[in-house]
Amino acid sequence: TQEIFDSALAYEPDSSDIFVVTYPKCGTTWMLNILYLIEHGGKMIGSDDNLNFHYPFIELVGGDKVQEFKPPRVIKTHLDDRMIKHKEGVKCIFVARNPKDCVVSFFHATHDFHNLYKYEGGKFDDYFKIFMQGRVDWGDYFVMVPRWHEKSLREKDVHFMLYEDMKNDPKMEIEKLADFLGPKWSDSIKREGVLENVIKNSSFKAMKSNPLKYVSSINKVDNMQLTISLRLQCITIAPKDLKFMRKGVVGDWRNTLSEEQSREIDEKMKTVGKDYPGFDKIWE
Ligand code: A3P
Repeated sequence: TQEIFDSALAYEPDSSDIFVVTYPKCGTTWMLNILYLIEHGGKMIGSDDNLNFHYPFIELVGGDKVQEFKPPRVIKTHLDDRMIKHKEGVKCIFVARNPKDCVVSFFHATHDFHNLYKYEGGKFDDYFKIFMQGRVDWGDYFVMVPRWHEKSLREKDVHFMLYEDMKNDPKMEIEKLADFLGPKWSDSIKREGVLENVIKNSSFKAMKSNPLKYVSSINKVDNMQLTISLRLQCITIAPKDLKFMRKGVVGDWRNTLSEEQSREIDEKMKTVGKDYPGFDKIWE
């Protein structure tokens, strides 16, 4: 609702807050699970538990609800950097993914929401057009992601990570992340067996084997998900088969994008690179 959204924008961060920021479909759930695992000594979240109980999605539940979580908080968001109030000490983890895989993943997720989200046409080619125009949920990839990237170059409290790097070398990425977050986190992964279990239990295979714990939307007819909505005092309705764990690979876009669409993204990246130097080189 507008009220919830306004309350998210009005949220006054605590200096111990950690924001997990992503453009949708770029690895949000994966990152939240990694943080949960580090916080819990590598032990997988219970089958009657859900990441949403621990890490509120601020624009879904509102800032007032987030205030009820005891600091230090981990907060999920897809908001633009201009929409989060500044506070000394707040850390932001930004996970980015190449726009070609992002648009494919986003298309499937949006498609699964078809009862709620009407977008023109309904085929991938239709979705691609509105993605390129920034007219999809949470707006323009080519504004939000480069802005956060630029912010990470300027501010030591913004840690910019790539989905592709996490796939390639999860150990190194988790170690860098824990160092960024501070002693509580880096000490945890130094304890015997913890890092190995964080890696194992955050793998796509492990997460796909029990996706209900990781979904961030709520199915009206599903008991478990209804419990989530009641506990968080919000209702969103998602189809039962919404796939948060779909393929989990790098380069799946090659099965979907035409050569022309791929070129269009390459061109767009070059244009964005003029305003945000270096951004266009990330996935080259
Ligand atoms: P695909 O649709 O390409 O499979 P988000 O959580 O931001 O909505 O991102 C969802 C995307 O991250 C989906 O991509 C999902 O499969 C992928 N994903 C989730 N967990 C993952 C993991 N452990 N390893 C790799 N990819 C993962």
